[in-house]
Amino acid sequence: MDVIRIDGGRPLSGRITAGGAKNSVLPIFAACLLTEDECVIRNVPDLSDVRYMARILEYVGASVVDEGSGVWRVKAGEVRPEAPYDLVRKMRASICLLGALVGRLGQARVSMPGGCVIGPRPIDLHLKGLRKLSCKVEVKAGYLQVDGKDRRGGGVFLGGRYGSTVTGTANLLMAAVTTPGTTRIECAACEPEIVDLCTLLRGMGARLEGVGSPTLIVHGVDSLNGVDHTVIDDRIETGTYLIAAALTGSDLEVKGAPPAMLGALHDKMEEAGIDMIYEDGLWRVETRGQRAPVDLITLPHPGFPTDLQAQMCTLMAVTPGISVLTERIYPNRFMHVSELQRMGADLAIEGASCIVKGVRSLSGAPVMASDLRASAALVLAGLVATGETWIQRVYHLDRGYQRMDEKLRAVGASIERLPAEEMPKGLLGEDF
Ligand code: EPU
Repeated sequence: MDVIRIDGGRPLSGRITAGGAKNSVLPIFAACLLTEDECVIRNVPDLSDVRYMARILEYVGASVVDEGSGVWRVKAGEVRPEAPYDLVRKMRASICLLGALVGRLGQARVSMPGGCVIGPRPIDLHLKGLRKLSCKVEVKAGYLQVDGKDRRGGGVFLGGRYGSTVTGTANLLMAAVTTPGTTRIECAACEPEIVDLCTLLRGMGARLEGVGSPTLIVHGVDSLNGVDHTVIDDRIETGTYLIAAALTGSDLEVKGAPPAMLGALHDKMEEAGIDMIYEDGLWRVETRGQRAPVDLITLPHPGFPTDLQAQMCTLMAVTPGISVLTERIYPNRFMHVSELQRMGADLAIEGASCIVKGVRSLSGAPVMASDLRASAALVLAGLVATGETWIQRVYHLDRGYQRMDEKLRAVGASIERLPAEEMPKGLLGEDF
């Protein structure tokens, strides 16, 4: 297992390029199961979650080839309708298989995903949606069994107490594209990653209306064909590096997701006194005088993304004044808080909010990564902390950030990845 060591306080300069969107690629790979033709997927990021999804596709019978330079070929000649616990438990996004298998074979037997460190992640809305398509859905011995042989179009309202569901919308779309009749999905997720999935599905011959809106209409077709599709750039990776630029006061250019995908971040940065400027396809940030605190609430797109909340917490931790960051998607997604406190941040959890009192500086410390975005928040903190920050369990970071340490080192950060054995013994976080 690797650790990351950061010697903070270096300004960054140069250009960072974000890769393809992780949360687009995972359902898109699953959607390749909908046809027996070959699908070519481009701008695929080199992430452990992507390689893991490829293994799952291989298990169900697809041939998956990484051609290099972000180009992957998926051909699902024959597909088996089953994904076992052993494969599904390690990555929640593998639940996307459910809709793809129903769409291709009219049936699926997929293990229920297990728990998740960012809080409860139910799939009741996914199942409600499939039932509205007249699928028979049963949970038996930890497996979801879906019989959709006689499925037909219907009306589905996908809103839950936290808004819509991203992978639930993806699942229902994939099941509905080959379902006879018309399916109307109300309160569908509007995330850019769902729009990307719809673009892919249209390329495969699916008939969709209302793409990008909360009302998606799907007219079922008999079969789908292969496609050549380029995945959108990762808006969360782009946003993470823009926050890094603001935090370190750096002259950094970021190439990645366009303004239409980053409106909420743009708005909150502006409130914080930071202008996000987009010119000729490149982002940079400019701070007007002293930064100001923000009152931020995470919401489904186009609201502020929960996947950038932890990184904003790091920025506000060293911004004068009191900020309030409220989670409306995952009320317990504050695992970064206790680690940032170890670095000197003044943070308090109050219900589903984190109250942040900006401090002058953070100080480097050994910290533990707990999930993907919390890990990114710790890397950002390490960049501005005085002294050395050692981050353990960085495999969380590799799930969603392609070589973050290398990208940051290339723009001047003092950051290196080392085998855990090279971490000074006194700093290792041992359980006892
Ligand atoms: N929810 C339900 N019932 C359901 C499904 C969801 O109550 O059947 C709730 C969830 O508990 C949560 C909210 O609805 O409170 C939103 O969940 P959603 O289903 O939209 O999340 P997801 O599809 O499981 C995706 C991303 C997450 C991202 C969320 C929210 C992928 C693979 N994952 O998860 O990404 O945080 O949408 O935008 O697309 C990450 O990249 O770090 C990450 C966690």
